[in-house]
Parts: sequence; C-alpha cells; structure tokens
Amino acid sequence: MDNNSNRLQSVYPLKGKTIPNRFVAQAMEINTAGTGGSVSDGVIKRYNELAKGGWGIVFIEATSITKTHLARRNGLVLDKTNLGGFKRLVDEFKSINDKCRLLIQLTHSGRQGGAFSNKVKVYDDDQSSIPVVTEPELETIKQQFAEAIELACRAGLDGVDVKACHGYLGGEFLRPLNKRSDIYGGSIENRSRFITDLISVAKEQARDFIVGSRISAFEGIRGGCGTADENEVIEDFTDMFDILDRFVNAGADYINVSGGIPTKTPLLTRPLKNGDFYRISHYRYTKLIKQAFPKVAVIGSTYTTGDEACLSLAQENIKKGYTDFAGFGRQNLADPMFPVKALNRPETIDYCTLCGKCSRLLKADQNIYCQTRHSNNPYL
Ligand SMILES: Cc1cc2nc3c(=O)[nH]c(=O)nc-3n(C[C@H](O)[C@H](O)[C@H](O)COP(=O)(O)O)c2cc1C
Repeated sequence: MDNNSNRLQSVYPLKGKTIPNRFVAQAMEINTAGTGGSVSDGVIKRYNELAKGGWGIVFIEATSITKTHLARRNGLVLDKTNLGGFKRLVDEFKSINDKCRLLIQLTHSGRQGGAFSNKVKVYDDDQSSIPVVTEPELETIKQQFAEAIELACRAGLDGVDVKACHGYLGGEFLRPLNKRSDIYGGSIENRSRFITDLISVAKEQARDFIVGSRISAFEGIRGGCGTADENEVIEDFTDMFDILDRFVNAGADYINVSGGIPTKTPLLTRPLKNGDFYRISHYRYTKLIKQAFPKVAVIGSTYTTGDEACLSLAQENIKKGYTDFAGFGRQNLADPMFPVKALNRPETIDYCTLCGKCSRLLKADQNIYCQTRHSNNPYL
C-alpha cells in the first residue's frame, strides 16, 4: 500500500465504538444456510475467515426476517428458531476478532422472492401475477423485522442494516413509482415510513447498537430511486436526499450507498471488467451523499471493481472526504484476508478477477463461493 495507507487503516468513532479501520466487508450472500435458514457450519466458517481478515466492519449477508418470503432457497433467516446459531456465529467471530464491528443485513425479498417461495410487491404495475402487499400484511412484516432486530441484539451483534437497496421490499417503498394510497406510498414522508419506522425500532435496542440502511442511490429504471418522479429515468437526487434526510432524522448512524437492481440493472450493482463508468458513478453518488450528510458515516460500494488499483482508489476517496468507508463485496469472497494482507503483505492479496462466476451462482440459486480461487466449495 502507498504512503497514504494510514487513511484506510485509520480508526473511525461510530456510536461510542471505535471502528478499527475503513475496510468494510459488504454483505455477500453465500446461500449456504442449513434447514429453515439456520446458521450452518459453512456459514460459521465463512464469517470466521472474515473475522481473521481484519476488516473494520463486516456485514452478515442479506438475512430474511421470515421463512415465508425468500429470495434464495438456502438463504439465512433470523427468527427465534435460529437464534442459537447466530449466537454461535457472533461468539466465534468475536473470539477471533473483538475489534471489528459485526452487523447483519435484514431483508424481506418482496417481489424478488424465488420461484419456490412467495412474492409480494409494494405498488401495482405490469407484474400482474404478484399481489400488492396489504397494509395489515405490512404491519405483520414490520413486526417480523422488529423481532429480528431484537434477536440480532440478543445474539450480540453490533448493529443492523435495514436493507433498502437492490429492488427488495425495503427499496421498493422509496421509489417515486410507489403511488400507494395508504401511509406507505405517495408523499416522500409516506414512502420513507417503512424504513424510518424500522430505524426507530432498532434505535430502541442497546444504546450503542449501530443502525443504518443500504440504499440504491440510483436504480437505473424509470421512476426508480434517484429519479425526480415516476416519468423520469435520469439521475436527480432531490427526492432521494429528502428520503435520506428522514433516515438520518430517524437516527441512522450510517448510510451504505449502493446502486442498481441486480435483476434489471446488474452492471450498476456489480460492475464487471471495463465497468469503470459504473464504478465512478458509485463514487459520485457517495460523494454527493457525504456532502449532503456530513455528520453521518457513509460507506461506498464497488471497490472490488478497481482491480489492483482498488486500494489507492479507496485511499483517494477517503482522503478527499468523498466517503468514510470503502466497501468491498466480491473482494471479500475472493480473499477474506484482504485488509490484513493490504497492511502487511500486499503482494499476497488474491485479487477478485471480476469473472462474474459468483453472480452467476447467485442467479442460479446455487451455493456461492469464489470458483476462481477454490476448486471445491469450502463452505460445504
Ligand atoms: C454473489 C453476490 C452476493 C451478494 N449478496 C449481497 C447481499 O447479501 N446484500 C447486499 O446488499 N448486496 C449483495 N451483493 C452486492 C455486493 O455487496 C456489492 O455491492 C457488489 O458486489 C459490488 O461491489 P464490489 O465491486 O465490491 O463487488 C452481492 C453480490 C454478489 C456478487
């Protein structure tokens, strides 16, 4: 690492806790849970690897708050029946590394439920076979989130991420396209309500519990997040910033900035080789959000995409104040030891090759691992 390495290695105070450095392991589903979404030995192995890697923050992959609406057949579920497994995961992680902050991303799959599962959508559109979720159903879903948040705290996790990105249920509310006529649609206040209510619930947990949300700043669809209204397709963040203001007022400690909807605009979410434009777009979104909300911790995405320049790009953006944290997704799958190696022996880093194989496994609903680095799945 160059002589600016202290930027990535510098501590960051968050919620009375010291984050040891600016490396963030973004949530990466490995779709390898045990029966009923329980924590399997493979899942434990995966997070133990990340614990050894010296990350500042690790996000446990998208974890459903219910068994009835799942995006992936072997996705994790945080409910009462699985609490013991999550406690074990946290205990083992913390016994290896008690400095890294371990958060969990909680989600409901919404219209992106797998073919084997149930689907609901937030507002009416041309996906006619999917029912619009009713207001009473939403109250039940919020209750399930509240239970999962409480369980996350009981399991010893340092905080929760209320997932509002990538086209899952939480993100769908935020769109200008959401014209529901009840308290969850139409005005910006109503579109923000589902997430802000959950942020408020999470704030009621332990005083030092870290709470935030991952958003798709721009989704790349007409009327999606990051557009001015339902008829617009180009970037305009006026609406989105108003929403984020409400997240911050509800008590969000951080905003984790992502983009796109993998099923519709996958290159925006996970740029591939030669995807520099998408990567730089992420840097721009993050910079604008950091400028608009200077007091909130901001986490950027798609740092894997910089190849071997990813470390210096992360340094640069942190140094310039464009982001507080650099989030690495595929890189944490390719080499969980990435931060430790970056500090001590950068020549030994296994860089993600952006081959796209992990994304293909995700799409095919198979167990996920880095096929470039391993001939067999190490988590089975
Ligand atoms: C296999 C796979 C699984 C992913 N799982 C999640 C997830 O659970 N939650 C989430 O917010 N994003 C998820 N993502 C998106 C990544 O966190 C990240 O935003 C994306 O890969 C781009 O960042 P990168 O260039 O650092 O990989 C996933 C991506 C891939 C390829």
